[in-house]
Amino acid sequence: MELERQPDPGHVPGCPRHVAIIMDGNGRWATQRGRPRLFGHHAGARRVREIVEACPRIGVEYLTIFAFSTENWKRTQVEVAGLMSLFKRYIIRETRALNVNGVRVRFIGDRVRLDKNLTRLMGELEQATAANTRVHLTIAINYGGRDEVARATRRLAQDVAAGNLKPDQVDEETLPRYLDTHVLPDPDLVIRTSGEARISNFLLWQSAYSEYEFIDTLWPDFTQAEFEHLCTAYGGRDRRFGGVKA
Ligand code: FPP
Repeated sequence: MELERQPDPGHVPGCPRHVAIIMDGNGRWATQRGRPRLFGHHAGARRVREIVEACPRIGVEYLTIFAFSTENWKRTQVEVAGLMSLFKRYIIRETRALNVNGVRVRFIGDRVRLDKNLTRLMGELEQATAANTRVHLTIAINYGGRDEVARATRRLAQDVAAGNLKPDQVDEETLPRYLDTHVLPDPDLVIRTSGEARISNFLLWQSAYSEYEFIDTLWPDFTQAEFEHLCTAYGGRDRRFGGVKA
């Protein structure tokens, strides 16, 4: 049973419990400055730190960020390699600050295709922060919603084949237990920066009833103030989940 959440008076009223972000626009931000795309990704990584730090003050308990999709392998080898080394650097540099701020980190996505040094660091960061409870940060790397559902279905089918689950036990409660996000609540608010209005294979199952914000700001320009503003606006939304208000 889930305990009722006691709102902190310092938090934004009606703050979303779980915010998911598609951090788009790093490449355009760099191009506008005549710099290589990786320059934008480095600026984007600094923004991640600021937004994570804003969560406990605003009242966001879960933050999930889309760092690399199953489709991003189509980018140039230079950009892919640069992003992978940026993820490693982020983990090495941020572990201490994440622990000081009480942030528990989890990764979602298929690790099989990732470099072994990166997956080792990811596992170490998950372990090093496992006791933290102030903010739950989930980083999606080599993540795709369709891929996640396909992997989940494969494991579920294996359980059925092994006799651990009956076909008629498969329902909306059972399937999400096989998803990468099985320990997380569904996102209340999904934000996409940079003016694109699409979901690009992010949290397809989990965001069925999420509220969406598509904003023009490029990710490296996204501020704590804008994040807080979006969380405040969320508090005024009327979520009916397909029903009607009494
Ligand atoms: C999309 O913008 C962004 C990405 C594919 C990478 C996201 C990565 C970061 C924000 C940096 C680091 C993250 C962590 C967790 C350390 P884009 O490059 O497609 O932008 P564009 O549409 O302007 O080209």
